[in-house]
Amino acid sequence: SSEMLVDSFGRFHNYLRISLTERCNLRCQYCMPAEGVELTPKSELLSHDEIIRIANLFVTSGVEKIRLTGGEPTVRKDIEDICLHLSSLKGLKTLAMTTNGIVLSKKLPKLKKCGLSALNISLDTLVPAKFEFMTRRKGHSKVMESIDAAVDLGYNPVKVNCVIMRGMNDDEICSFVELTRHKPINVRFIEFMPFDGNVWNVKKLVPYAEMLDKVRQKFKGVERLQDHPTETAKNFRIEGHVGTISFITSMTEHFCAGCNRLRLLADGNFKVCLFGPSEVSLREPIRAGVDDAGLKEIIGAAVKRKKAKHAGMFDIAKTANRPMIHIGG
Ligand code: GTP
Ligand code: 5AD
Ligand code: SF4
Repeated sequence: SSEMLVDSFGRFHNYLRISLTERCNLRCQYCMPAEGVELTPKSELLSHDEIIRIANLFVTSGVEKIRLTGGEPTVRKDIEDICLHLSSLKGLKTLAMTTNGIVLSKKLPKLKKCGLSALNISLDTLVPAKFEFMTRRKGHSKVMESIDAAVDLGYNPVKVNCVIMRGMNDDEICSFVELTRHKPINVRFIEFMPFDGNVWNVKKLVPYAEMLDKVRQKFKGVERLQDHPTETAKNFRIEGHVGTISFITSMTEHFCAGCNRLRLLADGNFKVCLFGPSEVSLREPIRAGVDDAGLKEIIGAAVKRKKAKHAGMFDIAKTANRPMIHIGG
């Protein structure tokens, strides 16, 4: 592993998140405005070959886990080819995807054969009508089918990402916990985070402590598990349940000290932190003919500029960033 991936606080980054597209087949309120977002022209999006070249550079420098995000990664037509080439990079241990599950169930057997080894599926409500309101599209039953298909194919655990917003789905927390009684899934309750265009407001944030309280009032034997230091989630088991639950507490208890994550966006920008406007283009130097050594210098310098932690939720909400659909979480 190389110096390129160590920041000025000694954090080693072995996890790269790659956004494959800015397009999505849903329109989730917490992710983008109703009118959608402006799309980068196709000629300015990374090609299959550019993605593989950059990923290879990261993997030979010490990255062991790549997560494909979007937009919605499954809407990219060459998704299977990308999985196949990424999963064969020597040194990569995990090829993961975060997806909304809308078109996943039919694509999954093939994706698994192409080396997709871990799966996080977003689902924010168990009520079909509410799904339509939150995502501005239909498709609740398709997502439920995809979760079951992933379990049946042996993904373990299938992680279910549930962004909780006050007055929207905070009344469903215990129903989601109930799902883990018989399904071997990990339901992760996520604090609502501010991004451009998602009308974040502290009143819509349900703090981790409050969510956990709700769960403890309804379920007994709720026990905190040991988390890996680089994990985004605080994990819990519940007596008698085959699945587990977690909380992702970006707003009320950030986990930046253990951060091991870097991001490559669909337009070829490299982003060292989920929050803040700081990005550097890798696409431009690549198209100008830069060699791998030059690319490594650009990446290393950006990593060294990474901040110790994000600015705090109120400052984040005021700072320019991108809409979530461009970043991929
Ligand atoms: P695992 O690799 O399975 O642990 O998943 P993950 O949590 O790294 O990724 P996922 O795409 O499932 O994201 C779940 C939630 O965590 C989303 O709301 C992300 O925006 C958030 N998240 C992921 N990485 C970071 C990060 O580096 N910082 C912060 N603050 N939140 C993050
Ligand atoms: N706050 C928290 N999580 C979010 N996600 C999307 N937007 C937000 C937000 N504003 C989640 C998605 C997906 C993951 C990549 O990030 O639901 O599961
Ligand atoms: Fe890492 Fe930035 Fe997320 Fe903190 S907010 S965990 S530093 S990506």
